Amino acid sequence: MEFIKVTEQYQPAIALIQLNRPKELNALNKQLMEEVRDTLQLLDKNEAVRVIIITGDERAFAAGADIKQMADKSAIDMLLIDQFSTWDQIRKTKKPIIAAVSGFALGGGCEFAMTCDMIIASETAKFGQPEIKIGTIPGAGGTQRLTKAVGKAKAMELILTGRFLSAEEAHFYGLVNKVVPVEMYLHEAVELAKEIAQMSPVAVQLAKEAINRSFETQLDEGLAFERKNFYLTFASADQKEGMNAFVEKRKPSFTGR
Ligand code: HXC
Repeated sequence: MEFIKVTEQYQPAIALIQLNRPKELNALNKQLMEEVRDTLQLLDKNEAVRVIIITGDERAFAAGADIKQMADKSAIDMLLIDQFSTWDQIRKTKKPIIAAVSGFALGGGCEFAMTCDMIIASETAKFGQPEIKIGTIPGAGGTQRLTKAVGKAKAMELILTGRFLSAEEAHFYGLVNKVVPVEMYLHEAVELAKEIAQMSPVAVQLAKEAINRSFETQLDEGLAFERKNFYLTFASADQKEGMNAFVEKRKPSFTGR
């Protein structure tokens, strides 16, 4: 694995996946997500593992999809790359996944944390969907999952302005399970995992499936709709301008074309 570190028995019955592109703030490129998908599929089959924790490092859980990889793509390129089938496979994981988040969880990083089942956050965690600032919109479930987690008004504010949510606010809005000091976030995730690992793995799997069913009956439709609009932004000059401005470290100038 090039972009993640996997410890199958981080603690008895608990596996740890650590995103490992620290210089790029764990930006989620295609290969990284495929490595996560392949690992989750193996862990799902491994009877010695009952709970999976996914984490980044202190500075970033993940600062989003890799903008440098996307910047010059067309809408059709994005459609054909079809990165979201990997995300769909990730969300089909049967075992419970806890995201242990410190620092930035932005864009695809926020969406990835929300794709997990529970979130333990450090006090330094910052959640957000800043895609609007680079001329696009969330594409991996942000408009659907954030809205369900924090409600329409807050989701509108966050997605239309790109503002960040502090860990404390994220807790207030029910996006995260618990906020702890930065030196404790992984420990706290392990404590939660240990408790779940003591339960019947069959019951845990069935409960997770049923809870997800409570909103996934409508999620497929929502995700498909979001995806089309996300791809559509790649037909705009504003997406090119927004992403190129990021890469070139300057302010974007949007024209509405
Ligand atoms: C590629 C990224 C990146 C990203 C950071 N980096 N985020 N590279 N894709 N999403 C890189 C920077 O270019 C830089 O590389 C290095 O990581 C450190 O980042 P800095 O910007 O120098 O750090 P800082 O000043 O502390 O600012 C942190 C930050 C900022 C606020 C998180 O990096 C930022 O705004 N990142 C982009 C956040 C974002 O827009 N995310 C949404 C992406 S779109 P160099 O080589 O210059 O040192 C998206 C779509 C989702 O996620 C749909 C599909 C999954």
